[in-house]
Amino acid sequence: LKNIGYEMSFKIIEQARPRLNRSELAVPGSNPALFEKAAKSKVDVIFLDLEDAVAPDEKEQARKNIIEGLNDIDWNTKTMSVRINGLDTHYMYKDVVELIEKAPGKLDMIMIPKVGTISDVYALDMLCTQVEDNMQLEKKLGFELIIETALGMQNVNEIASYNRRLESLHFGVADYAASTKAKTTVIGGPNPNYHVLTDIDGDKVREKHWGDMWHHAVSKMVIAARANGLRPIDGPFGDFGDPDGYRAQANRSATLGCEGKWAIHPSQIELANEVMSPSEKEINQAKRILEAMDEAKKAGKGAVSLDGRLIDIASIRQAEVLVEKAKLIQGK
Ligand code: GLV
Ligand code: MG
Repeated sequence: LKNIGYEMSFKIIEQARPRLNRSELAVPGSNPALFEKAAKSKVDVIFLDLEDAVAPDEKEQARKNIIEGLNDIDWNTKTMSVRINGLDTHYMYKDVVELIEKAPGKLDMIMIPKVGTISDVYALDMLCTQVEDNMQLEKKLGFELIIETALGMQNVNEIASYNRRLESLHFGVADYAASTKAKTTVIGGPNPNYHVLTDIDGDKVREKHWGDMWHHAVSKMVIAARANGLRPIDGPFGDFGDPDGYRAQANRSATLGCEGKWAIHPSQIELANEVMSPSEKEINQAKRILEAMDEAKKAGKGAVSLDGRLIDIASIRQAEVLVEKAKLIQGK
């Protein structure tokens, strides 16, 4: 994806390696029976999990399962990632060393959970570089970082500015709630306690207006990601029996600038792909905008009206984002 210059500063923002990342499926490494099905699904990215979906007693076996799965299964065109254990555990170094040594070249990225400071990323870069150099691997692992602690969110701007390997930032809503001691126990989604009441007006029943308690965090992460050319990805929505709830969350993330969302259940894959792809109508509209602006340019104008609305040179940039995305999907 060429840098189409959304930023008008003199600073050019280098964009992360372009990948389709509308949906990202979490698959526990302790359950290899799920691997084949995941490989055949319509998901864009798969992360095989060594972290929170795997109990301590199963960590070693899960690592073996993943290495075997990476080597033996045909993952098709899927982008492959593994969520390693956190830097505060004694599992992490072996996760990295064994994944690179025993499944060389099979992985595209690793997902690093609970990143708190830029030094966390530096440490992983150092470790991966050593192992890759020793193995004489050309292919370097990309990093996906989960922002899911108060510390990580406080430092997100600096973390996102690390200038090697980074591809995407992910909002880990469950750990973020735990870390901030938010008064909630669900994974993602709205909370009935996060509301305002309409004003007192005589005997009228006062209405509850629900808000999105994650708005600030997601938005802050999106800004940090986009300011550094990374993909912002929204994390899990726990209630896999509620497709409408999932769709609503995904739509709000997309509206804020996220370009993908996790699927913690296969049924969420198509929902994510649907929400995170521009619709036929949106693509056509974007093309009409580009055509109209082309005409405007020829006529020496910077702004014109289309269907009774103003469009200007900024509209070109918005339209180009959509058209480029559509091309990426088509090329898949
Ligand atoms: C994901 O890791 C989360 O904590 O939500
Ligand atoms: Mg987490």
